[in-house]
Amino acid sequence: MKENPIGVFDSGIGGLTVLKEIVRALPGEDTVYLGDTARVPYGTKSRETVARYATEDAGFLRGHNVKIVVAACNTASAFGVDELRKNLSVPVTGVITPGAEAAAAVTKSGKVGVIGTEGTIRSKAYSKALKAIDAGIQVFEAACPLFVPLVEEGLLDDPITDLAVSRYLGGLKAEGVDTLVLGCTHYPLLKGAIKKFMGPSTALIDSAEATASEVLRILSEKDLCRKDSQNPSHKFFVTDSPERFAQVGRAFFGDRLDSPETVRLGCA
Ligand code: DGL
Repeated sequence: MKENPIGVFDSGIGGLTVLKEIVRALPGEDTVYLGDTARVPYGTKSRETVARYATEDAGFLRGHNVKIVVAACNTASAFGVDELRKNLSVPVTGVITPGAEAAAAVTKSGKVGVIGTEGTIRSKAYSKALKAIDAGIQVFEAACPLFVPLVEEGLLDDPITDLAVSRYLGGLKAEGVDTLVLGCTHYPLLKGAIKKFMGPSTALIDSAEATASEVLRILSEKDLCRKDSQNPSHKFFVTDSPERFAQVGRAFFGDRLDSPETVRLGCA
């Protein structure tokens, strides 16, 4: 089991931010990544649909004998992780609880902002997770639907992005949050623009980093860490548009991104 890969799935390209942090935290491990590019975005879809997609994505990864399933997609984590935990025989982690724990540990004022897709914000998953840790935390949430296409267009440092940031985050800034959870796979790439707007006194919580630490914790606790791999393999699968994944994905993962194989899932 120790030799088996870590499985990571996302609605598309964005989960590569999480994979990158996992590879940084566990450099000797093999990984299998599935991006459900035929059915992206998940962020605008219903709970039922996203939960069904998450089940199919995780089933695909289990077919590759993964030793842990990581739901890198915040929307899938918000809607589908409980179901996966019930049905899979390997450990499962999403990105919500690790992100919420990191935010709760950092906030001093107890005022925490959360940004994500429409689905993640509608689910209130971060809010529930934060309040379960500390009922006194006040949570202020905002959906930022334009951020995903802006990132995928590479507009990381651009006036149009600054405008979207000020439009979406103005309310959270006015509330005086001292901690902001970047609750979507794509948002770590906007750290510069968000920091510029929110100012140095707001701590940005990257769920990707927090999730990588959680994967390390789970594998260590279960004695599932691979000990001696010199040449780990990283396999990539998509359900559509492998060329776009390879091209846009390099901004997320770096040049080590190999061309993905295209697979068919459910009705994708
Ligand atoms: N991966 C999604 C998330 O983190 C963002 C893209 C989508 O809407 O599918 O919520």
